[in-house]
Amino acid sequence: MIPVNRPLFDGNEKKYLNECIDTGWISSEGPFVKKLEVGFSKLMGCAHGIAVCNGSLAIELALAALRIGPGDEVILPSFTIISCAAAIVRAGALPVVVDCQHDTWNMDPALIAGKITSRTKAIMVVHIYGLPVDMDPVIELARRHDLFIIEDAAEQHGQSYKGRLVGSLGDIATVSFYPNKQIVTGEGGMVLTNDKTLADRCRHLRNLCFDKERRFIHEELGWNFRMSNLQAAIGVAQLERIGQIVAKKRQIGHWYQQRLRGHPRLQMQRERTEYAENIYWVFGVVLDDAVPFDAAEAMTRLKSKGVDSRHFFWPLHEQPVFRNRGWFMNERCPNAERIARRGLYLPSGVGLTEKEADISARALLEIIR
Ligand SMILES: Cc1ncc(COP(=O)(O)O)c(C=O)c1O
Repeated sequence: MIPVNRPLFDGNEKKYLNECIDTGWISSEGPFVKKLEVGFSKLMGCAHGIAVCNGSLAIELALAALRIGPGDEVILPSFTIISCAAAIVRAGALPVVVDCQHDTWNMDPALIAGKITSRTKAIMVVHIYGLPVDMDPVIELARRHDLFIIEDAAEQHGQSYKGRLVGSLGDIATVSFYPNKQIVTGEGGMVLTNDKTLADRCRHLRNLCFDKERRFIHEELGWNFRMSNLQAAIGVAQLERIGQIVAKKRQIGHWYQQRLRGHPRLQMQRERTEYAENIYWVFGVVLDDAVPFDAAEAMTRLKSKGVDSRHFFWPLHEQPVFRNRGWFMNERCPNAERIARRGLYLPSGVGLTEKEADISARALLEIIR
């Protein structure tokens, strides 16, 4: 079976892990955490990086740092992972969704203005799969309405938008280092910002809000969201090869594009837009209506040919956990609904070989013939 993701550890990962064990530094106090924070925040064009234990909690931390809470609304794409909405709901705020664009699968900036109310506090943009959100219209709206911008850049380490670094375009950004991301640490994530006050607040909240003078006195409730030195050691080794990793991801995208581009029964995310080149976090395809089955069936058929694949995200406005609360009952997001049902992604991990991409693409072509 060709796995949907296979990470590569062909740098200093083992050496740095051994260093942790040899020196005894395995907790968050170890030196690799700081190194990862400094190196990764630079990659993303931010002055501050706060390493945490995963990308989902990075979003929770970002919202808490911005003091988003009960009575607030946050606008986000319906087509995203549950983590984004879960963080908003857990903060006590309300998620307000917009549909994605037909061809980039990213939130449609043209739909945001219609969702802004007096309670809107922030826009959470999520850079989906390989292309960033068209940020300039979002930035303009946020300025005009005095809203925060939270960028979820979990899937796009090292991506840029009109030459500006993704992750540095709003007030605060978050990433994940789960093993299918560009930089991986096993489990892990980071909050990024250029605002020192926000960064200090994130560090405080990440570490249980210990008092500076009297450690076990707490003025506020925080969390233990710390990353261990062991995780950071892997991340630092990965970061040394970020250029190669991004180049490999684009090569994988190119291998698939060469084999599938222009097929009348398939839609792919665009290779580039006016503002960015696809970084291919994953290589997604959407089955045209002429294909007589949906993504779930396509995945079963691919599996029978030895190729693993994954579903696209399921839209937030159709999630049972929210519908059961009576939310989003009249919401329609036709683009998100369509790609959720007809979209899947092919093996696209950094460890993929051209032969495996070839077998995967051929298998797809055979099943949709
Ligand atoms: C856009 C996005 N946000 C957040 C997350 C959550 O990150 P984690 O799995 O590290 O909690 C993911 C994970 O895949 C993601 O794709």
